[in-house]
Amino acid sequence: MAVRLTLNNGQRIPQVALGTSRISAGNLEVTIRRALEMGYRHIDTAFMYGNEAAIGKVVEEYLETSNLTRQDLFITTKLFPSYMKGTAVGPALDESLRRLRLNYIDLFLIHVPCAMKELDNYPLKPQQPTEFMAVDLKETWKAMEETVYNGKAHSIGVCSCNSKQLDYICKTARIQPVVNQVEAHARLPQRKLHDYCKPRKILLQAFCPLGSPNFSGPVALNVVQSSDNLVEHRVIIDIAEKHNRTPGQVLLRNLVQRGMAVIPKSENPQRMEENLRLFSFSLSEEDMIQIDKLETGERRFQLAWYKGHPEYPFDEEF
Ligand SMILES: NC(=O)c1ccc[n+]([C@@H]2O[C@H](COP(=O)([O-])OP(=O)(O)OC[C@H]3O[C@@H](n4cnc5c(N)ncnc54)[C@H](OP(=O)(O)O)[C@@H]3O)[C@@H](O)[C@H]2O)c1
Repeated sequence: MAVRLTLNNGQRIPQVALGTSRISAGNLEVTIRRALEMGYRHIDTAFMYGNEAAIGKVVEEYLETSNLTRQDLFITTKLFPSYMKGTAVGPALDESLRRLRLNYIDLFLIHVPCAMKELDNYPLKPQQPTEFMAVDLKETWKAMEETVYNGKAHSIGVCSCNSKQLDYICKTARIQPVVNQVEAHARLPQRKLHDYCKPRKILLQAFCPLGSPNFSGPVALNVVQSSDNLVEHRVIIDIAEKHNRTPGQVLLRNLVQRGMAVIPKSENPQRMEENLRLFSFSLSEEDMIQIDKLETGERRFQLAWYKGHPEYPFDEEF
């Protein structure tokens, strides 16, 4: 059920994670508990999501009452962009671990490559800072490496980095990033970035893998409304009907079959089940070609807050 991929450091990561951003607060604890009962073994969170404490509470309770041990679970959290100075990285992870009630994190990711100034209300509330800060990505990465050396993170990686940023980090890294977590779905299949990452053994982990249908976040999040809804696309529906699966499963299976990890968010029990059950069917070459044709390059998460930042990642082709 929980198929795992081997990362470049030998750690094993469940290929499907539950995305937790925007799970409604009132539904969060029940959803995390349900996910663990269903067989999810990988939970994706971040300081930015403001849900680490609730997730930590449920995980702790679940480990006390089930046969699972901490080693059975894989928890990912992310470094908030205001904590990218070398001296801030370790304390930020300590705070995340405290909220999550864990003594180590399986995967610690730089949430965006763009450092932002700290706000006055340190420690920060999970709200978006607004001013840029000049921090060399190598400085942040060096501090990320320290979290591995001191045992607080088992693996480290990045999000939304382009190939040049990965090159820059990897050149002097003592520990290579294991993951680049990026937006990827049928409209934005990330072929070039994937081709760049494969030989370097950096796993592409797809956020927004369903194309984030029904996105209704605050305007400030600057998520571009999609021109269509991939789970309602005729091509996807036809393939789903042929395999007796759902459109969501087809979209996720396409990414999984290309070797990516996926982070679908759902708080609906039936869809949560569907999203986990991707390994008892496969798409034919013809299906994959049909899905390839849906590529438009359309990006939902433009990271518009960071436009103009020297590390804004999307001015490069990939
Ligand atoms: N690193 C980053 O910068 C970054 C950025 C964005 C997201 N992420 C991570 O990626 C996760 C997923 O991204 P996302 O939430 O934007 O997009 P998504 O997973 O592509 O889409 C989630 C939406 O699809 C619906 N859905 C889920 N399963 C479905 C299915 N089988 N069929 C039809 N609809 C389905 C969900 O509604 P229901 O809940 O009602 O099912 C929700 O509205 C986030 O939760 C977060 O953990 C990371």
